[in-house]
Amino acid sequence: VPAQVLTAGAEPLTVDDVRVRATEMLPPELSDFLAGGAGAETTLAANRRALDQVAVVPRVLSGAAAADPGAGLLGGSSRLPLAVAPMAYHRLFHPAGETAVARAAAAAGVPFVVSTLSSTSLEELAGTGGERWFQLYWLRDDRETFELVHRAEQSGCRVLMVTADVPIMGRRLRDVRNRFALPPDVRAVNLRAGARSVAHDPGAGSALAAHTQAAFHPALSWAHLERLRDRTALPIVVKGILDPADAREAAARGMDAVVVSNHGGRQLDGAVAAAAALPGIVAAAGDRCQVLLDSGIRSGTDVLRAVALGAAGVLVGRPVLWGLAAGGEAGVTQVLSLLGDGLREAMRLAGCADLAAVRQLRTTVVS
Ligand SMILES: Cc1cc2nc3c(=O)[nH]c(=O)nc-3n(C[C@H](O)[C@H](O)[C@H](O)COP(=O)(O)O)c2cc1C
Repeated sequence: VPAQVLTAGAEPLTVDDVRVRATEMLPPELSDFLAGGAGAETTLAANRRALDQVAVVPRVLSGAAAADPGAGLLGGSSRLPLAVAPMAYHRLFHPAGETAVARAAAAAGVPFVVSTLSSTSLEELAGTGGERWFQLYWLRDDRETFELVHRAEQSGCRVLMVTADVPIMGRRLRDVRNRFALPPDVRAVNLRAGARSVAHDPGAGSALAAHTQAAFHPALSWAHLERLRDRTALPIVVKGILDPADAREAAARGMDAVVVSNHGGRQLDGAVAAAAALPGIVAAAGDRCQVLLDSGIRSGTDVLRAVALGAAGVLVGRPVLWGLAAGGEAGVTQVLSLLGDGLREAMRLAGCADLAAVRQLRTTVVS
């Protein structure tokens, strides 16, 4: 992928402009891996629809002359109510990979969540500055799992995020049809399995699904999270919660936050849209743990909607990698600026000086 900066043509005005540019630049099997969802992609589409159906009721005459979207996330402060979602293998999209994304996130003053399947090591990312969180896929080997947690702590990650919605990988038909496998120079460098893994072997279907099956714990339970709670002092976030009962369970077991998420429509196709599940989860557990949202956030208006529905903040996935593919670090900076500027503008138009005011906005769901 050429390390081309977003200079050609008109400046992108929306995340969708960046997506179009990235899609033009990427080989089809990579843009499919990035954009795709599971099954018939019903949930992928539902995520967008549910956000579009949230209508926010603006306030007027507040006297506010500026909007400050600064947020407290997991006990830290972030310039925006937003973190970069954990995503595997950034080096597929640009040679500078996670390093470029971590630097852009640091410059924007938002946390970067390092995936277990990062193609850059935890230790190397420690040099990028800014706030880093570590996303944990619980591995079949408990020793290797706790070693990863230890390395995350030692390399300065401030929060652990355990992904709970991948007992197996969702059936992503685009990847199956493309027989998608990793190129030899991109790998999960933080895992013990050496230079090659089943993720590199084009087989009958998606090599990544085969790798997930081989590497990840297939039967994670709350007991695992309780063990993790006993072993680390870092805040723990559980990612992939859609039922209020699971959010209550997380709070009862000492978890600090949940991410309401269907993995961007990449796991259970037919799962409820994340934004539709959010209000029930805020009502069930919002007083005991922070509630974040991901899956479908594409604009500052979407962030406003999520916060108005009660989220403390959002994770942003695909838009960041579209930015990376289109323009490296500068492309990610551009995407984070579009989201931040869009949120500030939306707050101004809704009469909100800060996120506390956004949280007071009324919302209605239109169909
Ligand atoms: C290419 C790609 C790789 C991903 N890898 C991971 C991962 O390693 N760990 C994880 O917890 N979630 C992973 N996710 C899910 C994201 O963290 C997030 O839940 C989702 O992308 C949010 O939806 P959005 O892309 O619509 O913003 C991945 C998503 C994409 C698109």
